[in-house]
Amino acid sequence: MKYIMKGGNPLAGEVVISGAKNAALGILAAAVMADDDVVIDNLPDVRDINVMLDAIDSIGVLVKRVNRHKVILNGSNIRTVHVDNEFIRRMRAGYYLIGALLGKYRHAEVAVPGGCNIGSRPIDQHLKGFAAIGAHTSVEYGMIIADAKRLTGGHVYLDMVSVGATINVMLAASLAEGRTIIENAAKEPHVVDVANMLNSMGADIKGAGTDVIRIRGVQRLHGTEYSIIPDQIEAGTFMFGAALTRGDVTVKNIIPKHMEAISSKLMEMGCEVVEFDDSIRVVGRPRLHSCNVKTLPYPGFPTDMQPQMGAALCLADGTGIITESIYEDRFKYVSELTKMGAQIKVEGDVAVVTGVERLTGAELVAPDLRAGAALVLAGLAADGFTTVDEIQYIQRGYEEFDKKLRGLGAEIEMVSDSREAQKFRLKAG
Ligand code: UD1
Repeated sequence: MKYIMKGGNPLAGEVVISGAKNAALGILAAAVMADDDVVIDNLPDVRDINVMLDAIDSIGVLVKRVNRHKVILNGSNIRTVHVDNEFIRRMRAGYYLIGALLGKYRHAEVAVPGGCNIGSRPIDQHLKGFAAIGAHTSVEYGMIIADAKRLTGGHVYLDMVSVGATINVMLAASLAEGRTIIENAAKEPHVVDVANMLNSMGADIKGAGTDVIRIRGVQRLHGTEYSIIPDQIEAGTFMFGAALTRGDVTVKNIIPKHMEAISSKLMEMGCEVVEFDDSIRVVGRPRLHSCNVKTLPYPGFPTDMQPQMGAALCLADGTGIITESIYEDRFKYVSELTKMGAQIKVEGDVAVVTGVERLTGAELVAPDLRAGAALVLAGLAADGFTTVDEIQYIQRGYEEFDKKLRGLGAEIEMVSDSREAQKFRLKAG
């Protein structure tokens, strides 16, 4: 499947943002730790979530889809702690099932995670955390195995700020016998959301959203009803869409506080950004100013917005420097943008982007999820037709991306062959 688009229309109007994928993945894992019904609302209908639900279903959790965005899970009849299938191997967050099952059953076996190919992505900090609370871990035959006679709780100092390790240790430690302290914890909104959800199930977690998280283990977690926070990165992507296409977009159903790093960069680039209670309006300008940016853990500028920023800088005045400090291999989209006439030089973890007058349509391939979305934004801002192939990456994390963009006036379609692409070209003229 590909997206084909004709660039040039400014994105304009309102778009409703879905639930946060990365929070949802942790929350689905947390839900299996109870033996009662757990109702989860505002679940995004994206591929990664559906893979996670399949994995959860495959171990015996009762999964009842109430509607597209609401699910009821019941983990009272889990029959195995062995989680493996070809899809879970391709995603990252399957590893949350290690923390969840280890906490609940003191044993878990989960396929070594894949995920977007944006760097080496080790999981040593997760394993260090599990060891600190009393588990023994090993990697055998492509599976991560975690085992504990007793989970005692303990003190974990993370060597680097890791969202995944923070959430994973939080999950397991919630049902440990003792107290756990996670230092140098990640502060991302989805870490806080998973902690809130666990607390609503009876966990005792304090300090989520700060560097130090304290968890007092409890004996059991009970059922709950929980609604997932809006997706910061989906919202940020549409905000950058407004900037790139010189449009006027209001992202709705969001938490403006989560968007501060993104909003402030857009303002620095000359956009008008207006905050409301649960929405933000971004008005583009004829020519963006360039800026420098370094990706950092929250509340810094998110690495998951780095490619969208890269695309925007291509059409800005002057030269901007991007420093990627989280993942070493996150500039794969640069060679694609170059096909559109962009001027970007990459040197290690730095990209130097010199703005050009215009981008022109080209045939592109999405290298990963966020880069794929950034290429679509570039295509919508470019002259002529652009195709973006390998959109299964984009579908991992964006719900109805093309439909939401069409709602804002974009000319974009999903096509499966060249005949359909040709039809689009003729129609779009
Ligand atoms: C999560 C997000 C991803 C986002 C990233 C950073 C999910 C499913 N994915 O990924 O979209 O880009 O946060 O905001 O939520 N590291 C180690 N050892 C570890 C763990 C991490 O060296 O055990 C390194 C990583 O290679 C990376 C950095 O720490 O350089 C941050 O990684 P981490 O925050 O763990 O990212 P993920 O949880 O995988």
